[in-house]
Amino acid sequence: MSESWDIDKIDSLFIAKHILEDLGTNWGELAEEQAQVPLDPKVLETVHSIETIEETWEYKAISNEHTFGRKEKDETIRLWSVPRKSAEVLRNLVILTQSTSILEIGTSAGYSTLFLADGAKQNNGQVVTIELLSDKAKLARNFFRDSELNNVRLLETEANEALTNWDSGKVDFVFLDADKENYGKYLDLLLPLMKTGAIIVADNVNDYGHLMEDYLQKVNGTHLPQSRADKRVRS
Ligand SMILES: C[S@@+](CC[C@H](N)C(=O)[O-])C[C@H]1O[C@@H](n2cnc3c(N)ncnc32)[C@H](O)[C@@H]1O
Repeated sequence: MSESWDIDKIDSLFIAKHILEDLGTNWGELAEEQAQVPLDPKVLETVHSIETIEETWEYKAISNEHTFGRKEKDETIRLWSVPRKSAEVLRNLVILTQSTSILEIGTSAGYSTLFLADGAKQNNGQVVTIELLSDKAKLARNFFRDSELNNVRLLETEANEALTNWDSGKVDFVFLDADKENYGKYLDLLLPLMKTGAIIVADNVNDYGHLMEDYLQKVNGTHLPQSRADKRVRS
Protein backbone atom coordinates (compact mmCIF):
# COMPACT_ATOMS: atom_id res chain seq x y z
CA MET A 1 0.00 0.00 0.00
CA SER A 2 1.46 3.39 -0.94
CA GLU A 3 -0.09 5.43 1.88
CA SER A 4 -0.36 4.40 5.50
CA TRP A 5 -3.70 4.33 7.29
CA ASP A 6 -4.56 7.00 9.82
CA ILE A 7 -6.38 4.84 12.33
CA ASP A 8 -8.20 7.83 13.86
CA LYS A 9 -9.92 8.51 10.56
CA ILE A 10 -11.12 4.94 10.06
CA ASP A 11 -14.56 3.98 11.29
CA SER A 12 -14.42 1.47 14.17
CA LEU A 13 -17.10 -0.72 12.62
CA PHE A 14 -15.06 -0.93 9.42
CA ILE A 15 -12.02 -2.03 11.47
CA ALA A 16 -14.01 -4.69 13.36
CA LYS A 17 -15.47 -6.06 10.11
CA HIS A 18 -12.02 -6.12 8.54
CA ILE A 19 -10.61 -8.12 11.49
CA LEU A 20 -13.46 -10.64 11.31
CA GLU A 21 -13.15 -10.96 7.53
CA ASP A 22 -9.45 -11.75 8.01
CA LEU A 23 -10.35 -14.47 10.48
CA GLY A 24 -13.05 -15.85 8.18
CA THR A 25 -15.72 -15.10 10.82
CA ASN A 26 -19.20 -14.20 9.56
CA TRP A 27 -21.75 -11.86 11.10
CA GLY A 28 -25.41 -11.12 10.42
CA GLU A 29 -27.15 -7.98 9.17
CA LEU A 30 -28.98 -7.59 12.45
CA ALA A 31 -25.71 -7.60 14.40
CA GLU A 32 -24.34 -4.95 12.05
CA GLU A 33 -27.41 -2.79 12.75
CA GLN A 34 -26.94 -3.33 16.51
CA ALA A 35 -23.33 -2.23 16.28
CA GLN A 36 -24.54 1.12 14.98
CA VAL A 37 -26.70 1.75 18.04
CA PRO A 38 -24.88 4.43 20.08
CA LEU A 39 -23.50 3.72 23.55
CA ASP A 40 -26.05 3.90 26.34
CA PRO A 41 -26.09 7.55 27.63
CA LYS A 42 -25.18 6.54 31.21
CA VAL A 43 -22.28 4.44 29.91
CA LEU A 44 -21.12 7.32 27.73
CA GLU A 45 -21.24 9.69 30.70
CA THR A 46 -19.06 7.23 32.66
CA VAL A 47 -16.67 6.88 29.72
CA HIS A 48 -16.24 10.67 29.82
CA SER A 49 -15.58 10.56 33.57
CA ILE A 50 -12.72 8.08 33.07
CA GLU A 51 -11.33 10.14 30.18
CA THR A 52 -11.27 13.13 32.53
CA ILE A 53 -8.97 11.40 35.03
CA GLU A 54 -6.90 9.40 32.51
CA GLU A 55 -3.91 11.77 32.56
CA THR A 56 -3.95 12.61 36.25
CA TRP A 57 -4.82 9.42 38.16
CA GLU A 58 -1.74 7.78 39.58
CA TYR A 59 -0.75 5.19 42.09
CA LYS A 60 2.63 4.50 43.60
CA ALA A 61 3.57 0.85 43.63
CA ILE A 62 4.22 -0.17 47.20
CA SER A 63 5.58 -3.60 46.58
CA ASN A 64 8.60 -4.70 44.58
CA GLU A 65 6.77 -7.83 43.45
CA HIS A 66 5.21 -5.81 40.69
CA THR A 67 6.08 -6.37 37.03
CA PHE A 68 4.37 -4.71 34.05
CA GLY A 69 1.15 -3.12 35.25
CA ARG A 70 2.52 -3.89 38.69
CA LYS A 71 5.67 -1.80 38.39
CA GLU A 72 8.71 -1.78 40.57
CA LYS A 73 8.47 -0.22 44.03
CA ASP A 74 7.75 3.53 43.91
CA GLU A 75 7.11 3.54 40.19
CA THR A 76 4.03 5.39 39.06
CA ILE A 77 1.14 3.31 37.83
CA ARG A 78 -1.42 5.00 35.62
CA LEU A 79 -4.76 3.90 34.22
CA TRP A 80 -3.36 3.01 30.79
CA SER A 81 -6.85 2.68 29.30
CA VAL A 82 -7.05 1.74 25.64
CA PRO A 83 -7.74 4.63 23.26
CA ARG A 84 -11.41 5.35 22.46
CA LYS A 85 -11.08 3.91 18.95
CA SER A 86 -9.77 0.58 20.26
CA ALA A 87 -12.57 0.46 22.83
CA GLU A 88 -15.14 1.03 20.08
CA VAL A 89 -13.59 -1.74 17.98
CA LEU A 90 -13.87 -4.10 20.98
CA ARG A 91 -17.55 -3.23 21.38
CA ASN A 92 -18.20 -3.80 17.68
CA LEU A 93 -16.38 -7.15 17.73
CA VAL A 94 -18.50 -8.30 20.67
CA ILE A 95 -21.72 -7.26 18.94
CA LEU A 96 -20.84 -8.62 15.49
CA THR A 97 -19.77 -11.99 16.92
CA GLN A 98 -22.88 -12.01 19.18
CA SER A 99 -20.59 -12.96 22.07
CA THR A 100 -22.37 -13.57 25.36
CA SER A 101 -19.56 -14.70 27.64
CA ILE A 102 -16.74 -12.17 27.66
CA LEU A 103 -13.60 -12.23 29.72
CA GLU A 104 -11.21 -9.33 30.19
CA ILE A 105 -7.81 -9.66 31.84
CA GLY A 106 -6.73 -6.22 33.07
CA THR A 107 -9.60 -3.94 34.14
CA SER A 108 -7.82 -0.83 35.40
CA ALA A 109 -10.60 1.79 35.81
CA GLY A 110 -12.94 -0.23 33.60
CA TYR A 111 -12.77 1.91 30.47
CA SER A 112 -12.54 -0.98 27.98
CA THR A 113 -14.89 -2.99 30.20
CA LEU A 114 -17.64 -0.39 29.71
CA PHE A 115 -17.46 -0.84 25.92
CA LEU A 116 -17.30 -4.64 26.17
CA ALA A 117 -20.26 -4.68 28.57
CA ASP A 118 -22.36 -2.21 26.57
CA GLY A 119 -21.81 -4.47 23.53
CA ALA A 120 -22.51 -7.62 25.55
CA LYS A 121 -25.76 -6.10 26.81
CA GLN A 122 -27.07 -6.05 23.26
CA ASN A 123 -26.47 -9.83 23.12
CA ASN A 124 -27.83 -10.44 26.64
CA GLY A 125 -24.25 -11.26 27.55
CA GLN A 126 -22.00 -10.86 30.57
CA VAL A 127 -18.46 -9.64 31.16
CA VAL A 128 -16.08 -10.97 33.78
CA THR A 129 -13.09 -8.68 34.25
CA ILE A 130 -9.97 -9.37 36.32
CA GLU A 131 -7.86 -6.80 38.19
CA LEU A 132 -5.34 -7.42 40.91
CA LEU A 133 -4.67 -3.88 42.14
CA SER A 134 -7.24 -3.07 44.80
CA ASP A 135 -7.11 0.71 44.22
CA LYS A 136 -8.00 0.18 40.58
CA ALA A 137 -10.63 -2.44 41.36
CA LYS A 138 -12.31 0.00 43.73
CA LEU A 139 -12.24 2.75 41.11
CA ALA A 140 -13.66 0.42 38.46
CA ARG A 141 -16.47 -0.77 40.76
CA ASN A 142 -17.54 2.85 41.27
CA PHE A 143 -17.54 3.49 37.54
CA PHE A 144 -19.54 0.31 36.87
CA ARG A 145 -22.09 1.47 39.43
CA ASP A 146 -22.28 4.93 37.77
CA SER A 147 -22.77 3.35 34.35
CA GLU A 148 -25.79 1.38 35.63
CA LEU A 149 -24.57 -1.64 33.68
CA ASN A 150 -25.56 -4.80 35.52
CA ASN A 151 -23.73 -7.36 33.41
CA VAL A 152 -20.18 -6.90 34.75
CA ARG A 153 -18.50 -9.05 37.40
CA LEU A 154 -15.12 -7.90 38.66
CA LEU A 155 -12.74 -10.48 40.09
CA GLU A 156 -10.20 -8.72 42.27
CA THR A 157 -7.42 -11.24 41.99
CA GLU A 158 -4.37 -12.34 40.05
CA ALA A 159 -5.19 -13.50 36.52
CA ASN A 160 -3.46 -16.91 36.86
CA GLU A 161 -5.43 -17.54 40.00
CA ALA A 162 -8.73 -16.57 38.34
CA LEU A 163 -8.09 -18.70 35.23
CA THR A 164 -6.93 -21.72 37.21
CA ASN A 165 -10.11 -21.62 39.31
CA TRP A 166 -12.44 -20.58 36.47
CA ASP A 167 -16.02 -21.78 37.06
CA SER A 168 -18.03 -19.49 34.79
CA GLY A 169 -18.46 -21.76 31.76
CA LYS A 170 -16.97 -21.49 28.29
CA VAL A 171 -15.98 -18.09 27.00
CA ASP A 172 -16.50 -16.70 23.50
CA PHE A 173 -14.53 -13.46 23.61
CA VAL A 174 -11.35 -12.54 25.52
CA PHE A 175 -9.64 -9.19 25.81
CA LEU A 176 -6.11 -9.68 27.07
CA ASP A 177 -4.69 -6.42 28.45
CA ALA A 178 -2.56 -7.12 31.53
CA ASP A 179 1.03 -8.19 32.21
CA LYS A 180 2.48 -8.78 28.75
CA GLU A 181 5.11 -11.29 29.81
CA ASN A 182 2.41 -13.69 30.99
CA TYR A 183 0.29 -13.69 27.80
CA GLY A 184 1.77 -17.07 26.77
CA LYS A 185 0.83 -18.60 30.11
CA TYR A 186 -2.65 -17.07 29.91
CA LEU A 187 -3.13 -18.50 26.41
CA ASP A 188 -2.46 -22.03 27.71
CA LEU A 189 -4.94 -21.52 30.54
CA LEU A 190 -7.50 -19.82 28.30
CA LEU A 191 -7.73 -22.24 25.37
CA PRO A 192 -9.48 -25.03 27.32
CA LEU A 193 -11.98 -22.44 28.61
CA MET A 194 -12.93 -21.16 25.16
CA LYS A 195 -15.69 -22.17 22.75
CA THR A 196 -14.74 -23.26 19.24
CA GLY A 197 -14.45 -20.13 17.09
CA ALA A 198 -13.97 -17.87 20.13
CA ILE A 199 -11.82 -14.76 19.74
CA ILE A 200 -8.87 -13.43 21.74
CA VAL A 201 -7.89 -9.81 21.26
CA ALA A 202 -4.43 -9.17 22.73
CA ASP A 203 -3.41 -5.57 23.32
CA ASN A 204 0.06 -4.05 22.85
CA VAL A 205 1.44 -6.66 20.46
CA ASN A 206 3.15 -3.93 18.43
CA ASP A 207 4.70 -2.03 21.33
CA TYR A 208 5.47 -4.89 23.70
CA GLY A 209 5.89 -7.85 21.36
CA HIS A 210 9.36 -8.42 22.84
CA LEU A 211 7.73 -9.16 26.22
CA MET A 212 5.34 -11.75 24.81
CA GLU A 213 7.45 -13.78 22.43
CA ASP A 214 6.13 -17.11 23.68
CA TYR A 215 2.55 -15.89 23.11
CA LEU A 216 3.38 -14.71 19.59
CA GLN A 217 5.13 -17.98 18.80
CA LYS A 218 2.07 -19.90 19.90
CA VAL A 219 -0.35 -17.84 17.81
CA ASN A 220 1.79 -16.91 14.80
CA GLY A 221 4.76 -19.22 14.73
CA THR A 222 6.94 -16.06 14.90
CA HIS A 223 10.61 -17.09 14.89
CA LEU A 224 9.37 -20.64 14.31
CA PRO A 225 7.93 -22.23 11.22
CA GLN A 226 4.21 -21.34 11.03
CA SER A 227 3.48 -25.06 11.26
CA ARG A 228 4.81 -25.07 14.81
CA ALA A 229 2.27 -22.54 16.06
CA ASP A 230 -0.40 -23.94 18.40
CA LYS A 231 -2.77 -25.88 16.11
CA ARG A 232 -5.80 -24.78 18.12
CA VAL A 233 -5.27 -21.12 17.17
CA ARG A 234 -5.77 -19.15 13.96
CA SER A 235 -4.23 -15.67 13.97
C1 LIG B 1 -3.29 -1.69 30.54
S1 LIG B 1 -4.15 -1.79 32.05
C2 LIG B 1 -5.78 -2.29 31.54
C3 LIG B 1 -6.52 -1.19 30.84
C4 LIG B 1 -7.98 -1.52 30.58
N1 LIG B 1 -8.11 -2.77 29.85
C5 LIG B 1 -8.60 -0.43 29.75
O1 LIG B 1 -8.32 -0.36 28.55
O2 LIG B 1 -9.36 0.37 30.32
C6 LIG B 1 -3.53 -3.31 32.68
C7 LIG B 1 -4.13 -3.70 34.03
O3 LIG B 1 -3.82 -5.07 34.29
C8 LIG B 1 -3.61 -5.21 35.68
N2 LIG B 1 -2.78 -6.40 35.86
C9 LIG B 1 -1.46 -6.56 35.57
N3 LIG B 1 -1.07 -7.81 35.83
C10 LIG B 1 -2.15 -8.47 36.29
C11 LIG B 1 -2.38 -9.81 36.72
N4 LIG B 1 -1.41 -10.70 36.71
N5 LIG B 1 -3.62 -10.15 37.14
C12 LIG B 1 -4.63 -9.25 37.13
N6 LIG B 1 -4.47 -7.96 36.73
C13 LIG B 1 -3.25 -7.58 36.32
C14 LIG B 1 -2.89 -3.92 36.07
O4 LIG B 1 -3.00 -3.67 37.45
C15 LIG B 1 -3.58 -2.91 35.17
O5 LIG B 1 -4.64 -2.26 35.85
